[in-house]
Amino acid sequence: MDRFIIEGPTPLEGDLTVGGAKNAVLPLMAAALLARGESVISNVPDLQDVRFFMTILEGLGARCSFNDHVLIIDTTDQAGFDAPYDLVRKMRASVYVLGPLLAAQGRARVSLPGGCAWGPRPVNLHLEGLRALGAKLELNEGYIEGECLNGLAGGRYRFEPSSVGATANVLMAATLAVGESLLENCAVEPEVTQLGKALVKAGAKIEGIGTTTLRVQGVERIDPLEQSVIADRIEAGTFMAGVALAGGKVRLQGVNPEHLAPVTAVLQDMGVTVTISEAGGSISVESNGRPEAVEVVTRPYPGFPTDMQAQVMTVCALAAGTSFLTETIYPDRFTHVAELQRLGADIRLDGAKATIFGVEKLQGAQVMATDLRASAALVLAGVAAQGQTIVNRVYHIDRGYERIEERLGRLGARIRRKRG
Ligand code: UD1
Repeated sequence: MDRFIIEGPTPLEGDLTVGGAKNAVLPLMAAALLARGESVISNVPDLQDVRFFMTILEGLGARCSFNDHVLIIDTTDQAGFDAPYDLVRKMRASVYVLGPLLAAQGRARVSLPGGCAWGPRPVNLHLEGLRALGAKLELNEGYIEGECLNGLAGGRYRFEPSSVGATANVLMAATLAVGESLLENCAVEPEVTQLGKALVKAGAKIEGIGTTTLRVQGVERIDPLEQSVIADRIEAGTFMAGVALAGGKVRLQGVNPEHLAPVTAVLQDMGVTVTISEAGGSISVESNGRPEAVEVVTRPYPGFPTDMQAQVMTVCALAAGTSFLTETIYPDRFTHVAELQRLGADIRLDGAKATIFGVEKLQGAQVMATDLRASAALVLAGVAAQGQTIVNRVYHIDRGYERIEERLGRLGARIRRKRG
């Protein structure tokens, strides 16, 4: 298994282009199953998760080609409806194929995804929402088996709590249902909004995109998708946190500053200077001194994202003063705490609330994380820590960050990948 060897501390300086958003491209890939023909998705990041989702689509009979960040998904002869355990267990987002398969093929057999490194991750809202559209779903030997051979019907469903994945899944299904669907308390994360817009461009009839209430008039068919993926706000936020930690000045190109506002606000509270370019497509992040302590609570968008919690906790670890971080989306998402402690961080965990007593320096050590964002946080910590940090199991990072070591290296970090 590959590892990163990092010699710190080094400031980060220079320009960096942010890639397309992992969490936006995956539902778009699933949505390609709603149409017949070639969907073309551009600005697609070259990530393990994307390549993995391609194998799921290919297993369902679609043909995929991926070059220069352009992904073509040809569903002309796609007829499969079975997503097996061996594939789904590796990536929870595989469950995104459920709604489109039911809507377009009238049946689906999709493995239950199971939990993840930091605890259970239920799919009850996906199932209930699809049932509200008339799908007959049963759980059988670890599989979700569904049928609606006469198609789905419009229905009404309220997501409680707000769920990115369930909103996307049910929205995709409602697109081809017969009649009107009313979906309430929908997630308004930019990735869901992007999906809604791409579906409308392909002929779907959806009102309320970007709000928590979506009204969908089902259509018989939609055209293949044609969409460029929005910038990854979490990747951008990760590099911003890197500057807050290690110091320096970095200009991030290709971003949407509005999507970054919740992260920007917290980093500004910590004393980081964030400047948005006049045209709006880039932001500069600058930090010279020690960050200040802060209080952060994760919430659904437009709140502070849980996917930035580990990175910001790492900044808090070096802050002057005591910070408080409460996780309301995934109360167990704290696998990084023990690893940050190995680097010298002083963190006390009490249920879903972490108290972080800022220390002046982090000290390099061997660390390992069991999820994507936590691993990224440890890489940042390594860039800012004194001496050598070895981050093991970097395949987690490769799932969601394209060549992170090369890109951090161009900003001045001393980081190399050791294969094997
Ligand atoms: C997506 C993101 C993930 C991010 C998360 C929250 C993708 C591929 N992943 O995950 O990176 O951390 O949003 O922003 O886009 N819940 C239920 N029942 C369900 C579904 C969810 O109770 O059927 C709960 C979850 O346990 C959690 C909350 O709803 O507490 C939000 O989860 P959700 O938005 O669904 O996360 P994902 O879509 O899985």
